[in-house]
Amino acid sequence: MSQESSAAGYAGSASSVAHGLWSSRWVFILAATGSAVGLGNIWKFPYITGANGGGAFVLVYLACILVIGIPLLMAEVMIGRRGRKNPAGAMAALAKRAGASRHWRMVGGLAVLTGFLILSFYAVVAGWALAYIPAALSGSFTGLTAESSGALFGELLADPLKLVLCASLVLLATLAIVACGLHKGLERAVRYLMPGLFILLLILVGYAATTGYFGRALEFLFVADFSKLSGETVLVALGHAFFTLGLASGAMMAYGAYLPEGTSIAKTSILVAIADTGVALLAGLAIFPIVFANGLEPGVGPGLVFVTLPIAFGQMPFGQLIGVLFFVMLLIAALTSAISISEPSIAWLTERFGISRLKAVLTSGGVLWLLSLGSVLSFNVGADFTLFGKTFFDSLDYLTTNWMMPLGGLGTVLFAGWVLQQTTQREAIGIASDRWFLIWRWVLRYPAPLAIMLVFLQVIGVFG
Ligand code: PFF
Repeated sequence: MSQESSAAGYAGSASSVAHGLWSSRWVFILAATGSAVGLGNIWKFPYITGANGGGAFVLVYLACILVIGIPLLMAEVMIGRRGRKNPAGAMAALAKRAGASRHWRMVGGLAVLTGFLILSFYAVVAGWALAYIPAALSGSFTGLTAESSGALFGELLADPLKLVLCASLVLLATLAIVACGLHKGLERAVRYLMPGLFILLLILVGYAATTGYFGRALEFLFVADFSKLSGETVLVALGHAFFTLGLASGAMMAYGAYLPEGTSIAKTSILVAIADTGVALLAGLAIFPIVFANGLEPGVGPGLVFVTLPIAFGQMPFGQLIGVLFFVMLLIAALTSAISISEPSIAWLTERFGISRLKAVLTSGGVLWLLSLGSVLSFNVGADFTLFGKTFFDSLDYLTTNWMMPLGGLGTVLFAGWVLQQTTQREAIGIASDRWFLIWRWVLRYPAPLAIMLVFLQVIGVFG
């Protein structure tokens, strides 16, 4: 079916015609996987796994993806495709059709805002990856020790100009792609970048397999020591499941709005979640053997990729080349996510105010850049400026991950599970089997909201 005819076949799809639809279900899968696979998989997953003791954490994380992540991902894509608009517009339209309050659009609006705020600091971290490419290339990692590697990273953070330059380049690349629209921008970018990302990852895992410490990494990732589990660990796992699938930030709803009719939302969502989880685990299998082979610590936290790995790159055979490949991979992963995080706000601006895509990109780009400046400065000259006792960067991270995402996620599951009628859900989601449909619906209605509420209670400090 052509894009126009499939879009026109859907009632009230004027905006989808204006935006166009993904050319095929495979491009959607590539783009959604590009959104899901990002800094979360390659930077954050390995370090939180390291910091939380390995296997037991991985197991809980996998359970969170399966039980909460996939059903919610399906719900978001469904809302996007049924509503055929930006997250706020889509929820407003669906609420109206269901005879519910139009205020549900605020849940979509919250998601758009969440994504927008995330991008402002996500671009800064992606900028670190960018800065580390020339560093790796020029051999700056050779002979690094724990102290000198920490100092190298510290030097980068202390240099506002370099940080601004790197974050601005990342934002510029992201917005340039998004400005070119769905087909010439987003689709073209993911068609080239995603295969590149997979190839780089496989090369790195292949290299890690030659270090002699692959078995130890497998053991670290997959042998569960449950004595290391705590309530806190479970909450970190659930929070990360949200972040890594790009949930409650508008991205999946916005991408779902361009999904052709007739594509199974259940199957595509499951594929995306499998690809995302696979990349996170492979990233662990690329990183931990190198860490162990060089006698380094897996549990150092956020510095794992930017402080610990460079030490290894500096002392191992082909380390210079592997280091460059690693940071290029990290940058590509970040870029395809950044594109998706910016799409909801761009779509919202164009649809809400009827402005051109270019104007929307320039407007949101300007504000994003200013916000990213705040994050950059919080590592150096503005480190003393604090909100709720945290630096600007940390408060944005804290606000989005701990408050906005769970709140938006809760609103979304309640909307998808309780507000949308069963006939709408059944028609929209495209699960042929009655049993699986009912299981999905039940998860959305009971365990998912309960689990998210638990996260929230933890954030509020009810559990001390
Ligand atoms: N999933 C991305 C990652 O793991 O890095 C981050 C992300 C993408 C967050 C899309 C939010 C979003 F809407």
